Amino acid sequence: MSKTTATATAALAHATEFLDFVNQSPSPFHAVEESKKKLEKVGFIELKERDSWGDKVEPNGKYFFTRNKSSLIAFAVGGKFIQGNGVSIIAAHTDSPCLKIKPVSKKEKFGYLQVGVQTYGGGLWHTWFDRDLSVAGRVMVESEDGKHISKLVRVEKPILRIPNLAIHLVDRTSGEAFTFNKETHLTPVLATSAKVLNEKVTGKEEVEKHHSVLVELLANELSITGERIKDLELCLYDTQPSVIGGALDEFIFSPRLDNLMMSHCSITALIRSLENDTTLAEDTCIRMVALFDNEEIGSKSAYGADSHLLEATLRRLQAGKNPTAFEESIHKSFLVSADMAHAVHPNYSEKHEENHRPAMHKGLVIKVNANQRYATTAATSLEIKALAKKHGIPVQEFVVRNDMACGSTIGPILSAKLGMRTIDVGAPQLSMHSIREMCGTEDVQHSIQLFNAFFQEYQHLDQKILVD
Ligand SMILES: *[C@@H]1O[C@H](CO)[C@@H](O)[C@H](O)[C@H]1NC(C)=O
Ligand SMILES: *[C@@H]1O[C@H](CO)[C@@H](O)[C@H](O)[C@H]1NC(C)=O
Ligand SMILES: *[C@@H]1O[C@H](CO)[C@@H](O)[C@H](O)[C@H]1NC(C)=O
Repeated sequence: MSKTTATATAALAHATEFLDFVNQSPSPFHAVEESKKKLEKVGFIELKERDSWGDKVEPNGKYFFTRNKSSLIAFAVGGKFIQGNGVSIIAAHTDSPCLKIKPVSKKEKFGYLQVGVQTYGGGLWHTWFDRDLSVAGRVMVESEDGKHISKLVRVEKPILRIPNLAIHLVDRTSGEAFTFNKETHLTPVLATSAKVLNEKVTGKEEVEKHHSVLVELLANELSITGERIKDLELCLYDTQPSVIGGALDEFIFSPRLDNLMMSHCSITALIRSLENDTTLAEDTCIRMVALFDNEEIGSKSAYGADSHLLEATLRRLQAGKNPTAFEESIHKSFLVSADMAHAVHPNYSEKHEENHRPAMHKGLVIKVNANQRYATTAATSLEIKALAKKHGIPVQEFVVRNDMACGSTIGPILSAKLGMRTIDVGAPQLSMHSIREMCGTEDVQHSIQLFNAFFQEYQHLDQKILVD
């Protein structure tokens, strides 16, 4: 095998592993569950936030915990860690824009059973029309002894669809643009009432907030009866799986790249950085991945980046005899905020500033913004660029045009809260927030390699990035 073929094969293997992750993760709850499985497989121990960690967390140990089953923090403690030392952190988010089932979703119109949905985040909603949709998330189930337990659930077959209006019926006087109302036109169809009557699927009193056909489908998945389902938290998702695409296998066509790709790469890099035990045994720092929920709606929730979740965790890890260990450690720690970036679009290239047009396969994009929509500074980006160069991993840079609005992410929120050195990075993609996005195959590997190097070498980088 030639060197280039071997490299391409390795890149494809990384991309395929990511496809599995995204295909298994139709909701934030599933993404957390999948990450948890990966961590447990390599010996990470689950902690609970409500327990004392005093006698549990030790040097050379690997741990994680989840909050609301939709956010997760995992960390490995260096063998030479002492209170007051730094933490190398990569943070990403588990949520993506989607449609969520309303608390009372039952609707019926002109012989169609429909399901009421709410928009979550800033999705490109027109891309949700004519897709073969289904539901995933969690349901609250009443157990035999009357307790309520939450269960992950996913219906695999396509059961919902938001039909487009035929071209012949579109009001052509309104021009070419397809417009719709998010409340009245974005309601998926579940079944026809004639069919439901025929099949004698009778509505039960307890479930009258939702169509009983829907509740029965969920109950079947869980092998329980419909009456035991007391509440639902369900996202709609596209049943078309994530795939490798492009003439030369150079693309990933996929839902939820933003931000399951960075979630996957950070967890994978953390695991990979621990493959050689010696590197952790010699580490003076803690390596950490934080996956937050609710980034798409501004991060302000008990499971989002704008909560005390990360700070509380860092404080617990520094608790001990030294009363200022937490404050000291903040200044020895570093946060990589990893969230997808915009690749230049071939037909809308004018949307990018001329010297900053991120391309696929060219590695992570370092995002810089003078107005602090991104938390990157010259000092933080310099060292990450040096690290990438040392390992031969490509990286690129991005600033938004001065005349354009700029998205934001968890980096500035966390950096403002904690006062920690931060860099904002992300792999380049197109169609962000569409139901089907795309990115470059090789950037999965580029991201994992850089994150892995960051974890393994952070203790030596720290000294180089002194910003007093
Ligand atoms: C947990 O997370 C989900 C998904 O973001 C959210 O809908 C729910 O309100 C959260 N809180 C609780 C208490 O379940
Ligand atoms: C593991 O890491 C140590 C320290 O960096 C190094 O000396 C050793 O060669 C590595 N072992 C393997 C099997 O790569
Ligand atoms: C879109 O792509 C085509 C083909 O490359 C090109 O001719 C055209 O100029 C592009 N349009 C814009 C607005 O960049």
